[in-house]
Amino acid sequence: MTVGLRFPDGFVWGAATAAYQIEGAARDDGRGPSIWDTFSRTPGKVHAGHTGDVACDHYHRYPDDVRLMGDLDLRAYRFSISWPRVRPDGTGPVNPRGLDFYDRLVDELIGRGIDPIVTLYHWDLPQSLEDRGGWTSRDTASWFAEYAAATYARLGDRISTWTTLNEPWCSAYLGYASGVHAPGRQDPAAAFAAVHHLLLGHGLAARALRAAGAEKVGITLNPAAVLPADPESAADAEAVRVVDGLSNRIFFDPILAGGYPPDVLEHMRRFTDLAFIQDGDEKAIAAAIDLLGVNYYAPTYVAGRPGAPGGGLAHPGTEGILFLPAAGPVTDMGWQIEPAGLTALLERIGRDYPTTPLYITENGAAFDDKAGPDGQVADADRIAYLDGHLRAVHTAIERGVDVRGYLVWSLMDNFEWAEGYRKRFGIIHVDYQTQRRTLKDSALWYRDVIGRNGLPT
Ligand code: FCB
Repeated sequence: MTVGLRFPDGFVWGAATAAYQIEGAARDDGRGPSIWDTFSRTPGKVHAGHTGDVACDHYHRYPDDVRLMGDLDLRAYRFSISWPRVRPDGTGPVNPRGLDFYDRLVDELIGRGIDPIVTLYHWDLPQSLEDRGGWTSRDTASWFAEYAAATYARLGDRISTWTTLNEPWCSAYLGYASGVHAPGRQDPAAAFAAVHHLLLGHGLAARALRAAGAEKVGITLNPAAVLPADPESAADAEAVRVVDGLSNRIFFDPILAGGYPPDVLEHMRRFTDLAFIQDGDEKAIAAAIDLLGVNYYAPTYVAGRPGAPGGGLAHPGTEGILFLPAAGPVTDMGWQIEPAGLTALLERIGRDYPTTPLYITENGAAFDDKAGPDGQVADADRIAYLDGHLRAVHTAIERGVDVRGYLVWSLMDNFEWAEGYRKRFGIIHVDYQTQRRTLKDSALWYRDVIGRNGLPT
C-alpha cells in the first residue's frame, strides 16, 4: 500500500463521544437527573425541545456500537462516564447498577482490542449538586474527587487512561456566564468561581486517581487558537493577550505552570474578590498530569478596537475587542475551517508547556449530511475537513510537538447540546427514528487512514 504522510509508530487512532450525548436511558437503573436533563426541559434552551432522554440509545445498543468501532479498526475510544449514574445525588451512595453499564462497555471494548479512554466529567453535573451551588460551590470539587475515586475503584483494573474534565471553559463560561449551556446562569463572577472549582476538582481528582494507582491521568481542554486580525498591530496583539489569558492561560498555567498568571488574576478581579482561591489550591491544581487532551474545531481572530462590544457574555471583560466573524468556508455550525489554526495551537502549547504529551481528544465537523435511500452518506466535506486537520497535526509533529493520538469527534451523530439533534458530527450516521447506524463515507475513509497509519499524498 502506498503511504503518503505517515504518523509515528504507535500513534493512537480513535473516536470520541460523551455520555449525555449518546446514552439515552435517562431514567434507567437508578440514574439521577443531571443539569442537562433540567436544561433541555427548560423551554427555549435547546433546539426544538430536544433532550438526551433517548439520544442514540447507546446504553442498550453498546454491543453493536462497539462492534462498529471494531469494524473501523479503532485503537481507542474516548467516552465519558455519567456522574449521575454513578452517584445519582452527586454525594450519596454509589449506585452499582450505574457502574455495571460501564463495566460491560469496558469489557466489550477490551474484548475487541480497543483501548478505553475515560472522561469523568463531560458536563452532566448531578442536578442535586447544582441545587447546592454547582461549580460555584467549593464542595463540588471534593465531591468530584470522591466520585472519581469510586469510579476508579470499580473500573481502574481495566482502564489505563483517565481524564478528569472535558473543556472546563465551556462548563464555566457557557454554563455560568453566557447561559447557553446548562445550568444556564448569566453571572461572570459565578463563572470565575466555577473555573476555579473545576480546576480544583481536577487537581483533587487527579491526586485521588494517582493515589489509587491510575497509570495515566490527564485533562481535556478546548484551548482557543487565538490569532490577531493583523499580525503587525500592537492593539491586536494586546487583544490576543487578553483573550488568550481568559480562554487559555487561566487553565494552562494553574495546571501546568504552578498558578494563575498575574494579568488573568487582575482581569478576574474586575468581577470578583477572588475569595474562592484559598491557600494551597494552586498547589492542588498543579497535580502532575501525564497527558493533555486538546479539542480543536476553529480559530478565533481578534482585533483591538476601541468601542467594540467584545465577545459577548461568554468572554467577560473583553469590551474594546472585536471578535471577527468567521471568514471563508465554514461547517454547519458556522465554524471557520482552518487547519493551520490547529498547527499553530499545537506549536504554541508545545513551546510554552513542553513537557506534557498531547492528544487531540476531539476534532471533527458538522455538515448537513443527506442520507441516500440505503442510508449511505457521501460526506466528502467531512473527509476534506478531517484530512486537512490530520495534515495540520502531522505538520506540528514534524516541527517537534509531542502529539500522541487523534480522536475524531464524533463516532456517531448525537445530541449536540443546545443545537439538539440538528447538527451531525458523526462518522456514523444515526437514524433517530429507527436507531439504525450507517457508516458514512468518512468512516470508511478513516478506517483506511488507521490501516495505513497515515494519509495518501
Ligand atoms: C465540544 C464538546 C463535544 C461536542 C463538540 C462539537 O465542545 O466537547 O461534546 O459537542 O464540541
